[in-house]
Amino acid sequence: MSTVLVTGGAGYIGSHTVIELHNNGYDIVIVDNFYNSKPEVLNRLETITGKRFPFYKVDCCDKDALRKVFEENEIDSIIHFAGLKAVGESVRIPLKYYKNNIDSLINTVELAGEYKVRKLVFSSSATVYGMSEDVPFTEESPLGVCTNPYGWTKWMIEQILRDYSVSDPDMKICLLRYFNPVGAHESGLIGEDPRGIPNNLFPYISKVAGGTLAQLTIFGDDYDTPDGTCVRDYIHVTDLATGHVKAIEYLGKCEENVCVFNLGTGNGTSVKEAVAAFEKACGHEIPHVFGPRRPGDIAVSYAATDKAADKLGFTARYNIDDMCSSCWKWQTMNPDGLPD
Ligand code: NAD
Ligand code: WQD
Repeated sequence: MSTVLVTGGAGYIGSHTVIELHNNGYDIVIVDNFYNSKPEVLNRLETITGKRFPFYKVDCCDKDALRKVFEENEIDSIIHFAGLKAVGESVRIPLKYYKNNIDSLINTVELAGEYKVRKLVFSSSATVYGMSEDVPFTEESPLGVCTNPYGWTKWMIEQILRDYSVSDPDMKICLLRYFNPVGAHESGLIGEDPRGIPNNLFPYISKVAGGTLAQLTIFGDDYDTPDGTCVRDYIHVTDLATGHVKAIEYLGKCEENVCVFNLGTGNGTSVKEAVAAFEKACGHEIPHVFGPRRPGDIAVSYAATDKAADKLGFTARYNIDDMCSSCWKWQTMNPDGLPD
């Protein structure tokens, strides 16, 4: 069976994808520098799958170290998750974001070219649609003006990969634009484990539900939406992981050099609805207050899902209640996240 190199495979989405790849018969090699993850995740993956995956503690920006991974393994395809992803931090330290995200991608693609790896999947984001509110976003929607350096790294890397594909038409590239990944593995052994105070809604709600944080602030209740709060397309991380397996399969048979897919559910959920769903999952109230809008937020974002359904055969299986209950299970089993 073919071997998939998963960069950033110790991270949130990468670790869940490793499980789905394994369940579908793939061999896996994981690379991560643990910048935003912990070695314990490898033990958890072993508990879940019964397999210890080959692992390299390598920074993808270190090309010589990364080369060793290609040298020692017969890699058939790559899923490149490695990257920094905190929107606010990217505004404070933009050069670190550009350097890490773009250098790590370029090294990975250069080595893929050198070692004749013919399939590459890249973690892009709905953030590339910018501030447009012309929803649902289809893969043909124009790329927008990003509101932060993190978003620009995704936008730029998409362009880099399109340019690269012209020079190496044998490489098949898939750009996956994730909407809002949330939830955790059904075992409760792995989940989203942010360092410090979370920025994103679900990790924040989880900490409030678990009692570590006192209350949630809902950023704005005066948006032009049914209940005044922002609407997002939350997708269960296990569904997202399945989408990657489908993308790898698709790259084995597609005609085009670069393909683009949204990964979302196509359903919008408001912040108020998300809070209510979480309250149902955890069985108690989530203390919350309303605060001002957060700069850079758009009112509504959700995916057109037809293309992923038609071409990848991908449709999300889990709903918002499943997302909340899996989050809550992960939170209660790991109130302080994974041990160091
Ligand atoms: P994450 O931070 O949990 O995982 C990323 C992993 O990459 C971490 O384990 C980190 O240690 C590792 N990493 C970072 N830079 C590295 C480098 N130079 N070399 C080796 N390893 C490195 O994040 P995630 O939520 O799992 O996101 C995975 C990918 O998906 C990222 O590229 C992210 O930008 C993208 N994405 C995430 C979301 C989201 O909301 N979580 C949405 C859209 C896109
Ligand atoms: C969701 C909603 C907030 C926290 C981000 C990135 C995006 C992509 C996915 C990587 C918004 C509201 C949040 C809180 C709140 N990541 N909120 N109180 O901003 O849609 O997307 O993650 O590519 O690029 O920007 O997700 O979870 O931060 O926010 O009211 O304490 O929850 O205003 O409406 P977002 P989020």
